[in-house]
Amino acid sequence: MNTEITLEQPQHFEVVEKLTAEAFGPGRFTRSAFRLRENVPHEPDLSFVVHVGDQLVGSVKLTRIKIGNAEALLLGPLVVAQSHKNSGIGKLMMETSVAAAQKTEFGAILLVGDLPYYQRFGFEKVERGNILLPGPADPDRILICPLQSTLTDNFCGLAERHP
Ligand SMILES: CC(C)(COP(=O)(O)OP(=O)(O)OC[C@H]1O[C@@H](n2cnc3c(N)ncnc32)[C@H](O)[C@@H]1OP(=O)(O)O)[C@@H](O)C(=O)NCCC(=O)NCCS
Repeated sequence: MNTEITLEQPQHFEVVEKLTAEAFGPGRFTRSAFRLRENVPHEPDLSFVVHVGDQLVGSVKLTRIKIGNAEALLLGPLVVAQSHKNSGIGKLMMETSVAAAQKTEFGAILLVGDLPYYQRFGFEKVERGNILLPGPADPDRILICPLQSTLTDNFCGLAERHP
């Protein structure tokens, strides 16, 4: 079946919410990354869905945040339907969203996730204590991907919701 990646549109909202609820459960609302996105619309030109045939099976969003005084992007949630895991859909969304972000003026993408998965897309662990989130987060899972030729050391301080 045909696999297609496109920008997320308003009509995808309900299915994306359902996928996200299935993957993360009710605890998702208490995560630090969720708090950083709360009431901030995701970037419409940097958020994608994947369809296999007619079925929406994947979603990734990027949202504008601040880290200290610098503007950056937060990646997440990244979610793939249980039925379509391990078939390259996560990889397709990560490569597409990082490539799209490279074309913007943002200097870095931050996310909270597993380094063994995300390092293949250019993410590295944030040096312990360099970036603080607005809630508890395992420091080993705070990851950053530099964009353009920005040094990730330029990003330090409190990560906050975009005003
Ligand atoms: C994590 C997730 C997005 C990966 O998407 P996917 O389409 O299944 O993954 P891909 O097909 O791109 O990649 C599969 C590879 O990644 C590996 N992988 C998947 N999740 C991993 C993890 N958490 N840590 C390390 N490796 C991981 C698989 O073992 C597989 O390895 P292989 O290529 O050596 O066989 C998906 O499993 C998912 O939606 N999980 C639930 C939600 C979640 O945890 N999201 C990420 C946190 S924001």
